[in-house]
Amino acid sequence: MKQFKNKVAVITGAASGIGFAIAEQAAGRGMHVVIADIEERALRIAEEKLGTISKGGRIMALKIDVTDPKQMASLAERCLKEFSAVHLLVNNAGVGGVAGNIWETDLSDWRWVMNVNLWGVIHGLHVFSRIMQRQNEGHIVNTASVAGLIAASGMAGYVASKHAVVAISEAVYNEFCSAGINVGVSVLCPSYINTNIGSSERNRPDAVAKEELSDEELKKEAELKAYAKKFFAETAMAASAVAEQVFEAVEKRSFYILTHPQGTKEKLKERLSSIINDQPPPLLSAADFPSQ
Ligand SMILES: NC(=O)c1ccc[n+]([C@@H]2O[C@H](COP(=O)([O-])OP(=O)(O)OC[C@H]3O[C@@H](n4cnc5c(N)ncnc54)[C@H](O)[C@@H]3O)[C@@H](O)[C@H]2O)c1
Repeated sequence: MKQFKNKVAVITGAASGIGFAIAEQAAGRGMHVVIADIEERALRIAEEKLGTISKGGRIMALKIDVTDPKQMASLAERCLKEFSAVHLLVNNAGVGGVAGNIWETDLSDWRWVMNVNLWGVIHGLHVFSRIMQRQNEGHIVNTASVAGLIAASGMAGYVASKHAVVAISEAVYNEFCSAGINVGVSVLCPSYINTNIGSSERNRPDAVAKEELSDEELKKEAELKAYAKKFFAETAMAASAVAEQVFEAVEKRSFYILTHPQGTKEKLKERLSSIINDQPPPLLSAADFPSQ
């Protein structure tokens, strides 16, 4: 996509972090921007901010839970009713959730992270791919992670959800290309970005509530949260820089968007070399995720 003015962007998880930064870029380029998020208050604040930087496009904010296919279908209906087309879809809503070894995590942790990070993307693709296929025009960006390319300990659920998003994106890219349909696909694989992902628990629904934690577990969780907040603020990349990379990729129709290309490629080479050379996988933790 080369021209953005007056085109329609739909971004999930856009009330905060990377999604909001992408919405800012879209509004600044004169697009009509639909922001969808589960967090009502943050959504209203985001809508107001976007209104002040819009270059003529409309801003529409909708409270949508990406885990619910009916809500995602109604999001698509609203977009078509208001704008008659959707040109850019960013399936971005996600949660960090689950930290801990496999024997320490609850099934509710797995359900929550898979529901949002994987099913949210599937629902978005399900409803919007048909619209773009009919239009024979558009671009889809799915937010995965560097954790969709390499696997680290202590986050099996997150890693599983993000590997699935990378794989689905590759398959869907293949499908549009093979069918000669003019719809681009990109997969965003960020390393550490300074957002509110460290407090994802704020959006955890009761249906997948965590089993009651002991005092010791609560203390450990609070320490981890404080550490993550400090770590993200001090070392992570700004979400605005990621949003610029996303628009550059959409303009050039690049598929993989690596926010930290050098370090990501090094880690990826190690993993692929293990597979090709019949070796066990590299022993990585979240601390090994690239910083450049
Ligand atoms: N921040 C990082 O370091 C990092 C790294 C790799 C990948 N990512 C991915 O980037 C994406 C955006 O996360 P972020 O870092 O900006 O975090 P964030 O918490 O700042 O933003 C995520 C947004 O998703 C929304 N959301 C959560 N559950 C939802 C649901 N069920 N339905 C609709 N919206 C929902 C939240 O309300 C929030 O506004 C996620 O997919 C995340 O996994 C982030």
